[in-house]
Amino acid sequence: MCGIVGYIGFREASDVIIKGLKRLEYRGYDSAGIAILNGEVIIKKGKGKVVNLEKMVLNGPAKGTVGIGHTRWATHGEPNDVNAHPHSDGKHDFAIVHNGIIENYDSLKKELISKGHTFDGQTDTEVLAHLIEEIQKVAEVDFETAVQLALKQVDGTYGLAIVNKHEKDKIIVARKGSPLLLGIGDNEVFIASDASPIIEYTNKVVYLDDDEMAVITREGYQVKTISNIELNKQVHELEMNIEQIEKGGFPHFMLKEIHEQSDTIADCMRGRLMVEENRVVLGGIERVLDRLVNARRLVIAACGTSWHAGLVGEYLLEYIAKLPVEVEYASEFRYRQPLIDSNDILLVISQSGETADTLAAVREARERGALVIGICNVVGSTIARETDAGIYTHAGPEIGVASTKAFTAQVTVLSMMAILLGQRRKVLGEADAKEMIHALHGIPAQVASIMEKQDQIDTISRLFAYAPNFLYLGRSYNFPVALEGALKLKEISYIHAEGYPAAEMKHGPIALIDEHMPVVVLAVTDHTNDKMISNIEEVRARKGRVIAITTENNHDVRNLAEFCITIPETHDVLTPLLTVIPLQILSYQIAVYRKCHVDQPRNLAKSVTVE
Ligand code: F6R
Repeated sequence: MCGIVGYIGFREASDVIIKGLKRLEYRGYDSAGIAILNGEVIIKKGKGKVVNLEKMVLNGPAKGTVGIGHTRWATHGEPNDVNAHPHSDGKHDFAIVHNGIIENYDSLKKELISKGHTFDGQTDTEVLAHLIEEIQKVAEVDFETAVQLALKQVDGTYGLAIVNKHEKDKIIVARKGSPLLLGIGDNEVFIASDASPIIEYTNKVVYLDDDEMAVITREGYQVKTISNIELNKQVHELEMNIEQIEKGGFPHFMLKEIHEQSDTIADCMRGRLMVEENRVVLGGIERVLDRLVNARRLVIAACGTSWHAGLVGEYLLEYIAKLPVEVEYASEFRYRQPLIDSNDILLVISQSGETADTLAAVREARERGALVIGICNVVGSTIARETDAGIYTHAGPEIGVASTKAFTAQVTVLSMMAILLGQRRKVLGEADAKEMIHALHGIPAQVASIMEKQDQIDTISRLFAYAPNFLYLGRSYNFPVALEGALKLKEISYIHAEGYPAAEMKHGPIALIDEHMPVVVLAVTDHTNDKMISNIEEVRARKGRVIAITTENNHDVRNLAEFCITIPETHDVLTPLLTVIPLQILSYQIAVYRKCHVDQPRNLAKSVTVE
């Protein structure tokens, strides 16, 4: 969380940084700030979004061609003007922006206070600034060495950038656990938490790894370890383009990303789903395919929406490939001493590829000797780089905080993986494979057809926009979709919503149902249809307001439900790719009716890089 942008070159740094911070605002948006070098360190910062910072800079320009900036998601210290980054040392010689958590900040702070330091705010970052100052004073070392020595004393995570008025043409950056990359231009270098702020200037990037730092000047950069060993880093070429990170005429990124899904699912399958040949090719896992084919089980770990995709994956892989699967919250995996060893395979799923808990699961499993495979969206992200093999979802940048197109791309990858493994494990016959591959191939057009239901969904959204609670019910493949629908509504509309396996309703939640309770029921025509119909009857008997998502030919459900949104017919196992779409639209529209900030919901950040 938190976004960092830095610039050194020939342009007005504040322009580059503010524009970049707007692109990174999905990472955090409770305060923002900038530090520009111009003989002095000019700092402007304050509570609120980047537009507030922009106004501040317009009212009192901070001129200079070297600077750093930050958009914050608060961890330590409430979001206010004082706690906004950048932070300074006691003499205001330098400014630092930081993403991550200094876990031992309290003890460091006490020690620094005992040595006479005073602090303006409550952040761990300000402690780091004073620690660097103290070390430089006592050890009488140059600034860079002081930074290195300070970083060796801190426990926790950081992605950071520092400018110092005594080193007027230099930015120092460092990384441990929080992403940071350099964008390499001609006589200019950009720094950012991800590639979105720099893609309009250069597509050449260098990813910093943990325990690495870089000293950046106008002429170039030198990457080294925190222990001062110089490194020769590979320069990567990004394939992203600027249109992908703009709204393209949509009022919100979330709506744009919902609409993109027929394309992103098709992109995800391109060159992988070989319809004519009746097979799937997943180049990223080719090397480890034998291990997967012969695996005794697969453990999946992920967080949030990606965890829901993992749950769909469990149904798919067990049904199609007959491979036993366990799905774990990545955040729990690492703390419960997982029984995983060199015979095991961990599959992690992450849109950003930077989620701290998922990354921790990767490291834990690798330490125990397991093979680790990733399904990531962001190319070159830390998880993508630290896993043994992986499959990119190719959904393009997802900017809306609520994940939509990443979920359908993840489920698409898992569907292809299940078909591939089913065939290789010789448990999926040719005819069944053919049926699934054809159905999968048809999904993009079917997703596009659901977009035409927006007006119909709008009527429902308007009616229930002020309901205090929602219940989502589904069975089998669509139980995880019920969880996902409830999550989408909660996070952007702030309506309390719960997803449940439909049969569990009788074991508690049914007590909540009355004439005020909207119950979204995922009742497609599959082997659970009769049971879902009974559940709808049970809700109706208690006067609950049934909103059913069902398949076009399901007249039973259509006749029973008070409201109905239909999806086209597909193979049973692929229905999650379609049922989730109306739920995304429903939550989006309700959030708009409630005047919620759709793309930047309160308290959230897109990429959760703290544990
Ligand atoms: C929900 C959402 C989050 C993420 C979760 C994992 O809409 O976006 O629940 O799914 O934080 O993020 P990634 O997939 O980046 O690891």
